[in-house]
Amino acid sequence: MQYSEPMFKDKVLKNKTIVVTGGGTGLGRSMSTYFSKLGANVVITSRKLEVLQKTASEITEETGGNILAVACDVRKEDDVQALLSQTLEEFGTVNGLLNNAAGNFISPTERLSPKAFGIILDIVLKGTINCTLTFGKHWIEKKSPATVLNIVTTYATTGSGFVVPSACAKGGVLAMTRSLAVEWAKYNIRFNAIAPGPFPTKGAWERLVPQPLKDKIALEKRIPLKRMGEHQELANLAAYVMSDFASYMNGEVITIDGGEWLQGAGQFNGLEAVPDPMWDAIEQYIRSQKGS
Ligand code: HXC
Ligand code: NAP
Repeated sequence: MQYSEPMFKDKVLKNKTIVVTGGGTGLGRSMSTYFSKLGANVVITSRKLEVLQKTASEITEETGGNILAVACDVRKEDDVQALLSQTLEEFGTVNGLLNNAAGNFISPTERLSPKAFGIILDIVLKGTINCTLTFGKHWIEKKSPATVLNIVTTYATTGSGFVVPSACAKGGVLAMTRSLAVEWAKYNIRFNAIAPGPFPTKGAWERLVPQPLKDKIALEKRIPLKRMGEHQELANLAAYVMSDFASYMNGEVITIDGGEWLQGAGQFNGLEAVPDPMWDAIEQYIRSQKGS
């Protein structure tokens, strides 16, 4: 058994309709593909209709499933309302929302204009709010059980320099996840989040690991497991959280990062750099100091 293999063999998402924002590219595309393999009807949405249509036909070819491509800018309430209407028109019902769309780029914060800061907040935080409110109100009115999964980041909890608008927005999304997990449990709507570590995608790497910085960042070295994530690993986790197997999971944020964030947090983790032979001398010294 390989970690890069699909986890579920049965159609565990059969009879479910799941909307995936940012579903035309990157991780959203990978999760959408797996949801489709598991029997779900999937609605993929973002701003670029041609990208979505191409992805939809490629997924259908691979899985034989129903994929609907809908252009929607999650920052715009009317677009999101139309997304809900088109989903219902096509599939009659909707059971899950995966808030995955995002915008991000690295920059020293003092170089950002208010507009640059705002554009990230609008996509990530306002976009997630727009989708959650629109779909949530529909589910509450129809008394439909549902599940919402929000893709955040590990720095939603820790914060991080050089991606401050994204950290603020993802932190807000995490707060919303935990808040509504409690408030809307009475409507049988579950809220959870996944915090991925580095999973290479074109969209993220162009903006966060640009060519001039590639050698300086050396992401793998920061990760205790010394590798990046495989898309299927994230898709496996997302499929579980969206499925009825996770019915008792509510308000959770699941980190999947090879131990990356803890590597930076543990005070003595830097001792990884000490070569083995040096430990003999260190041990000898510590023992010799006993009682002195
Ligand atoms: C400083 C910048 C800038 C930069 C743009 N701006 N790029 N400022 N440094 N590198 C400023 C502009 O000057 C402008 O402000 C304002 O931002 C908006 O610029 P626009 O030209 O309107 O925006 P544009 O560059 O077209 O769009 C930015 C974007 C775009 C919205 C973020 O890249 C996008 O659509 N991204 C979607 C996909 C994406 O980002 N995927 C990565 C997600 S990865 P002024 O005031 O000058 O007009 C992710 C991973 C997290 O989240 C964790 C990884 C481990
Ligand atoms: P990506 O391919 O760039 O995905 C971002 C998606 O969001 C794109 O499909 C984009 O499509 C869509 N989008 C952007 N603005 C939008 C808007 N206003 N309305 C609707 N859709 C919009 O990057 P990714 O790496 O797969 O990222 C996916 C998610 O994972 C993001 O939430 C990101 O923060 C998170 N994440 C990624 C990593 C990683 O290592 N890759 C790590 C941690 C978290 P359009 O441009 O067509 O609109």
